[in-house]
Amino acid sequence: MMSAESTSSRSLILGCMGMGGAWDQNPVSGADETRAANAVDAALESGISIFDHADIYTFGKAETVFGRLLASRPSLRQAIHIQSKTGIRLNAGENGSTHYDLSRNYIIEQTLAILKRLQTDYLDTLFLHRPDPLMDGAEIAAAFEWLHSRGVVRFFGVSNMHLKHIRYIAGQSHFPIVANQLQFSLGHRLLIESDISVNQKNTEATASTDGLLAYCHDQEIMIQAWSPLDKGKYLQPDSDDTTTKNTNRKVHELADRYQVPPESVLLAWLFAMPVRVVPVIGTLTPSRIKACARSLDVRLSRKDWYDLWITARGVPLP
Ligand SMILES: NC(=O)c1ccc[n+]([C@@H]2O[C@H](COP(=O)([O-])OP(=O)(O)OC[C@H]3O[C@@H](n4cnc5c(N)ncnc54)[C@H](OP(=O)(O)O)[C@@H]3O)[C@@H](O)[C@H]2O)c1
Repeated sequence: MMSAESTSSRSLILGCMGMGGAWDQNPVSGADETRAANAVDAALESGISIFDHADIYTFGKAETVFGRLLASRPSLRQAIHIQSKTGIRLNAGENGSTHYDLSRNYIIEQTLAILKRLQTDYLDTLFLHRPDPLMDGAEIAAAFEWLHSRGVVRFFGVSNMHLKHIRYIAGQSHFPIVANQLQFSLGHRLLIESDISVNQKNTEATASTDGLLAYCHDQEIMIQAWSPLDKGKYLQPDSDDTTTKNTNRKVHELADRYQVPPESVLLAWLFAMPVRVVPVIGTLTPSRIKACARSLDVRLSRKDWYDLWITARGVPLP
């Protein structure tokens, strides 16, 4: 057994980034709406009831599509948990450059715009999408207070943040930070690579992820793992890269042995962490969503967990 966690406490989140179709200014199409509805139905049938958004996804179209679905099924809202993020301003600067903005007014304005697009009165959780070097903890706390006191946001989380950011933000406000959404997968392992690189001369040792898992575990902050399937990298039929090819083989060998789809082996690898990890899967293909849900019951042995990690590393542990 890899952790003391019971499989019944596991959950998955459906990432809605792709729901608005292309990243362009074209209007939402009927095909986008049908694809989103089919993905939401597959998620609900698989026991997945948390949906992840951001104000920037497909320039707001992902939330618009989801909002239309909610409007057409009024009973759905209370059966699900909706989270969204703000703090990234696309095309805000010269030559269309991206800026970050965690000022009080921007957080409030954007949250109200999110609610309008989603056609709902409240968000279950609002995430600050990325750290803004100009952020002021007191302003963030004021925004949280404004939103929570009006019943507009129930909980607050952060994304792509170091433990020092979380400490700073949490220290300014009386609202706990309930989750940190980070890229974490078999193919993107900085969170654990930095933790085992103590006193080693390599770049991983100084990564900004150093100590982050232990901190989140200690503070009971959930890690929401984005891109948990590496966009299908280890699920494709073949690859020119030897390490990827070997990992693909290992994932499929374990899938055969545990008699589950390969997607669920990749997610079970994340679930084995002692800190609570909730993968945010991004596929909108119903069969893949259902394959991912099989991970809720898979427990990799310690040996298989390590063998898979080391195969994906391509080099032995120090
Ligand atoms: N906080 C952040 O900064 C941040 C950043 C990025 C993403 N996110 C969140 O994380 C979610 C997931 O991210 P992601 O889409 O990169 O995650 P992912 O689950 O690793 O990848 C899913 C994507 O890979 C494609 N894919 C191709 N082959 C696949 C296969 N064999 N199995 C499964 N998927 C395959 C899917 O296409 P199909 O849909 O056609 O199956 C989908 O576009 C997003 O929706 C978003 O909510 C957060």
